[in-house]
Amino acid sequence: MKELEGRTAIVTGASRGIGPQIARALGREGMNIVLVARSAAGLEQVAAELGSAGQHAIAMPADLSDHSTLDRIVEATEEQFGAVDLLVNNAGITATRRFETSSDEETAQIIDVNLTAGILLTKRVLPGMLDRGRGHVVMIASLAGKVGSPYESVYAASKAGQIAFVQSLREELHGSGVGASVVCPGFVVESGMWADAGISQGIRQPRLAGATTPGAVASAVVHAVQRDSAEVYVNRPPMRPMLVLGELSPRFRSWVLRRIGVPQTFRKVVERAESEARSE
Ligand SMILES: NC(=O)c1ccc[n+]([C@@H]2O[C@H](COP(=O)([O-])OP(=O)(O)OC[C@H]3O[C@@H](n4cnc5c(N)ncnc54)[C@H](OP(=O)(O)O)[C@@H]3O)[C@@H](O)[C@H]2O)c1
Repeated sequence: MKELEGRTAIVTGASRGIGPQIARALGREGMNIVLVARSAAGLEQVAAELGSAGQHAIAMPADLSDHSTLDRIVEATEEQFGAVDLLVNNAGITATRRFETSSDEETAQIIDVNLTAGILLTKRVLPGMLDRGRGHVVMIASLAGKVGSPYESVYAASKAGQIAFVQSLREELHGSGVGASVVCPGFVVESGMWADAGISQGIRQPRLAGATTPGAVASAVVHAVQRDSAEVYVNRPPMRPMLVLGELSPRFRSWVLRRIGVPQTFRKVVERAESEARSE
């Protein structure tokens, strides 16, 4: 979808972290934005900021794990702006822990928010897009969905699911005028879940693993929609050769990741949390 001016986007996870940057970037392209997350205050703040920059944005507080809210999100968008042209499934949660210590409820919640809700929202916006022969869906996945990071196995599974969903749907939509892209950031600094879980605890991502910013992720989303990109990796060092090598030899990939220090970084997060829990 090359022309974004005057079109309408739903951005989930828009109350904090990467989501507000995606909303700002799409707003700068002249899109109307519907901001979705649980925190009404966070959404109102982002909507007010976009409004004062002359952009059109509304806050739509909703818990995506409550599927009864999904129809309402789409209906309210259509009432306000006419049609949904772009859906950015960005909302996400994680839990960095030893898998055997996770509860069934936490596991279900991660899969639900990260994967199922985005799939169900996509199902709700697709018929209108197909009727108009125009539209785009973006999943914000993660490099963790390409190379599962340790202590985040359920998160990695949800992200791999998003990638597979887009691969499949994209083929199905070929020639319809409706596109689908998956955007996979690496470690995101400045704000977002890694900044909250790692950096704010004094734990830094390994230098050789690279990092990116919410602004770079937001630009990648705009380009992915305009160019109808299939899969975009957002990370400073070139990830593609590493991912290709990893497909040829997963054992070699694990060796490289250990040499770079990726598992050790996540272990530090887990050990820090475990030690805090013991001292409480
Ligand atoms: N940060 C990174 O390093 C990184 C790297 C790769 C990929 N990603 C992906 O980027 C996306 C955004 O992550 P982030 O770093 O910006 O995370 P974040 O700062 O933790 O923000 C997550 C967003 O999702 C919303 N959310 C969480 N649970 C929700 C629910 N049940 N219903 C509705 N909204 C919900 C949160 O809002 P409320 O709490 O107000 O509901 C918030 O707006 C995620 O899909 C994540 O997997 C992040």
